[in-house]
Amino acid sequence: MTLLEVVQSAAAYFKKHNIESPRLNAEHLVAHVLRRTRMDLYLEFERELTEAELAPLREMVMRRAQGEPLQHLLGTVEFCGLIFLCDKRAMVPRPETEELVEIVESKIENRQSKILDVGTGSGVIALSLAAKFPEAEVRGVDISEDALDLARENAARLGLSDRVRFFRSNLLQNVDRTFDLIVANLPYIAAQDRHTLSREVLRDPDVALFGGAHGDELVHELIVQAPARLRPGGILALEVGIGQSEGLLSVLAEKKYRDIYSKNDYSGGTRFLFARYG
Ligand SMILES: C[S@@+](CC[C@H](N)C(=O)[O-])C[C@H]1O[C@@H](n2cnc3c(N)ncnc32)[C@H](O)[C@@H]1O
Repeated sequence: MTLLEVVQSAAAYFKKHNIESPRLNAEHLVAHVLRRTRMDLYLEFERELTEAELAPLREMVMRRAQGEPLQHLLGTVEFCGLIFLCDKRAMVPRPETEELVEIVESKIENRQSKILDVGTGSGVIALSLAAKFPEAEVRGVDISEDALDLARENAARLGLSDRVRFFRSNLLQNVDRTFDLIVANLPYIAAQDRHTLSREVLRDPDVALFGGAHGDELVHELIVQAPARLRPGGILALEVGIGQSEGLLSVLAEKKYRDIYSKNDYSGGTRFLFARYG
């Protein structure tokens, strides 16, 4: 089979198995196995693939068709222009979270800010901010040791281990310092909504997905805890689930935060909340 035929048949197989963007998935996997960029593939479309090249590809295509996320198969994901390791130890970072990071970057006035990322997962928020602000002091906490291991590996790969420290904490329980910015993308899916999730999403760890019976309990609790760990005028920046912003904005007001506002993601849902304390 030529390379083009392989891409086409993998794409057709993915389509049959209800994989979104089947052609793109096929190109990514073929490029990964052949150690090429996606663009390089176009120069080799007429080349016949050898059995040694086809065998690992068949396995990858089967696993993808069975719902294994593309990012797990590739082992990496691009986030805010950086490449992160990605596997089942933590949630696959989502494009909405890149939007959160972009907004947060625009709010950082002091380049030496002290920043805390709560529920850091693979460390994408903490490490992207550390890369953008070389003078900032960044910490990431998570309740999952698996996620923290992955975050530390990502820090090492990006040469940021000296500047970003990751440690275990249930929300802010083990955090004893104060910060100019606390940012969090915590789990926000309601336990009862499990059946609505795709096969790919269900490969994320449960601890990264489910936030309680209503979904917003952990975010609510962080809003309660954060004032004790924010410097005067410090910012709390949150990613929340669709339909949760109204209730959580009220909690921010009740807890006496100020300059409270929300922003939509690119698809129009209100997903990001910001507020200052003190
Ligand atoms: C939605 S994932 C987000 C991961 C990462 N921040 C991102 O944006 O890709 C939520 C993360 O919060 C962590 N988490 C869940 N409950 C927590 C808690 N009580 N305290 C701290 N982290 C928690 C999970 O382990 C998971 O890594």
